Amino acid sequence: MAGLFDPVQLGELTLSNRVVMAPMTRSRAGADSVPTAIMTDYYRQRASAGLIVSEGIAPSRHGIGYCRTPGLYNAAQMVAWREVTRAVHDAGGLIVAQLMHCGRVGSRFNKAADAETVAPSAVRAAGRIFTDAAGMQEQDLPRALESGEIQGVIEEYASATRNALAAGFDGVELHCTSGYLPMQFMAANSNLRTDHYGGSTPNRVRFTIEVLEAMTAAAEGRVGMRICPGNPFNDVLDPDPKETYQALLAGSAHLRLAWLHVVRSPLKELDAFALARTLFKESLILNDGFDGPSASQALAEGQGEAVSFARHFIANPDLVRRLREGLALAEFDAKTLYTPGPKGYTDYSVSGA
Ligand SMILES: Cc1cc2nc3c(=O)[nH]c(=O)nc-3n(C[C@H](O)[C@H](O)[C@H](O)COP(=O)(O)O)c2cc1C
Repeated sequence: MAGLFDPVQLGELTLSNRVVMAPMTRSRAGADSVPTAIMTDYYRQRASAGLIVSEGIAPSRHGIGYCRTPGLYNAAQMVAWREVTRAVHDAGGLIVAQLMHCGRVGSRFNKAADAETVAPSAVRAAGRIFTDAAGMQEQDLPRALESGEIQGVIEEYASATRNALAAGFDGVELHCTSGYLPMQFMAANSNLRTDHYGGSTPNRVRFTIEVLEAMTAAAEGRVGMRICPGNPFNDVLDPDPKETYQALLAGSAHLRLAWLHVVRSPLKELDAFALARTLFKESLILNDGFDGPSASQALAEGQGEAVSFARHFIANPDLVRRLREGLALAEFDAKTLYTPGPKGYTDYSVSGA
């Protein structure tokens, strides 16, 4: 049975080890959602991961929800991402872009003046969101997408996928968790549509499957998806996650995704890893709450092919080495998770440094 430090193949990607850096929004992008030089430093420092999944990146200006988050929809962004991917590759690593369209989660204070907040239906998400310009704000009331507009949103994902490859990313991951656009289509309380993207379960998963079709057409063998069945984050309610994910995974099986990144379900009765194992035939990346020993055990039990770590990577840029050598793990500072600048971002040292 393969261990955490053995190589693994995910579609076209050959990982040198099975320690994946999980996606983390860190709000260090600059004006117009262009990545900054410190983002290049941050990802370079963590390039010993078998694979880095980037922070959520918006496929279009409408997909931006949070302040200082990056995009992959204009030339300046691609030039800056090219620096990031080159740095990671020069350090021997691999990096894929996580495409995150926030849909109704967002505030106009975080968006370009000509960007809109769109969603399956005009239903505001509960909860408030931080903005640089105006502090905490209610989430925007989204405009419901017309049936005829949905193909255009799918094309935004395809175009961002092409941009990701052109900017040197090794692949792309569809962010299908945490109550963002794909989940807003899948959930019952945020999707009140009466066309063929709403109502029945096959209709509610249709948008996500069509997005995956468009992404895999642009990057065959290099597309993964991230799911967390039953996750209510950002006010989405799925009355029957088992049925939803059965429909989603059966409906996308023909695409032979390179990986499925599965986050443990918050629902005690739902074993998301087991569900994914049954319904998905390619490689699984497991996530949520792992440390070195529990990750090795999950691999030894055959629950998945790789394990991703988010929070441990914040203060431990050399996490792979620390896990391999059994070194102590540093704690991160929660106050600087989303603040601008290098503090609490690129100033964590490697062990023994
Ligand atoms: C600061 C922070 C930002 C995050 N941003 C994202 C994100 O952009 N996309 C995503 O899919 N998950 C995001 N997550 C969730 C993590 O990828 C991961 O699922 C979660 O932290 C549990 O894994 P862990 O126990 O290894 O930290 C974020 C988590 C943290 C702590």
